[in-house]
Amino acid sequence: MSRPARVTITESSPRDGLQSLGVFIPTDAKIGLIDDLSMAGLVSFDAVSFVSPTAVPQMADAAEVIAGVARIGVFLRGLVPNLRGLEAAVAAGVDGIGVLTAASDTFSERNINADVEESMDRIRAILDEVPAGLSVRAYISTITHCPYEGPTDPARVAVLAERLAEWGCDEIFLGETLGKGTVGDVERVLDHVLARVPVSRLGVHFHDTYGQALANVVLSLDAGIDKLDSSAGGLGGCPYAPGAAGNVATEDVMWLLDGLGIDHDGDIQQVASVAARFCDEHNLPYRSRAGRATLAASEVEA
Ligand code: HMG
Ligand code: MG
Repeated sequence: MSRPARVTITESSPRDGLQSLGVFIPTDAKIGLIDDLSMAGLVSFDAVSFVSPTAVPQMADAAEVIAGVARIGVFLRGLVPNLRGLEAAVAAGVDGIGVLTAASDTFSERNINADVEESMDRIRAILDEVPAGLSVRAYISTITHCPYEGPTDPARVAVLAERLAEWGCDEIFLGETLGKGTVGDVERVLDHVLARVPVSRLGVHFHDTYGQALANVVLSLDAGIDKLDSSAGGLGGCPYAPGAAGNVATEDVMWLLDGLGIDHDGDIQQVASVAARFCDEHNLPYRSRAGRATLAASEVEA
């Protein structure tokens, strides 16, 4: 067992958690969510995306969100699908960017209007222009299943991950976009990827549609992966993966990590109360079971 002693959680609720909502969340509320979660001890945020406002209207205020966040020890990442996104992200003053590819051509086309090879060309072009000091995370989506093409070939994921590592991406995040993959599916992908990319460069991003995400987190920890995305209250989904649920809930991950004695940022009870309040204010379902239980237990104790 080579579980890490400490895990870096990237809080994805401000971006992945909100991007699919039909109702526009006001800019102040987005800023408040990041500030409140940072007060709850979270440090690293998947904060916004610099994408077409026609494609994803919810992210139209990305620059204003970045400008409004109290930058006290937080790390703010913005997704960029192309050079125009990079320019906007740099102008807004993000700490890091996320670039996008997928292991499925159809998903990639629907998501960013580029097949996989074209998306890799876009990433190459972005990497050529990235200012020194800006951290680059590459996301490979649909690592086990594509909503349009079905099961993914794990060897394709590994080849993409190796190329992205060779190109100098600081981190390569494996995105289980649909939340469908079981431990068996994810194990096959990790076996292929770990044969080609050092574990220190890898992170995981699990959606929880079929309730498999926490099991896949355990598998990833056992493989030595120490970076993962999660979303407070389980908020979220992808506009191009119909029916996909949000990322694994941050509070559920925290409960797991605490039980394993693995260090992480953030306090479960504080994160739960911020996320539950946000969900309540915006009429969204609060989906963290560990968070709900933690809040109920704290009421009993009070
Ligand atoms: P394209 O077709 O090459 O773009 O890329 P284009 O240059 O032809 O422009 C199309 C329109 O987009 C034009 O507007 C541009 O001005 C505008 P129009 O004239 O039609 O009004 N545009 C932009 N606007 C703002 N910022 C930009 C930008 N670039 C072009 N950077 C494009 C199409 C990629 C732009 C579009 O498809 C897009 O924005 N897609 C975003 C998709 C997205 O955000 N998906 C969700 C995030 S990915 C995800 O959730 C997966 C992840 O969580 C991991 C996982 O779960 O697996 C990360
Ligand atoms: Mg996602």
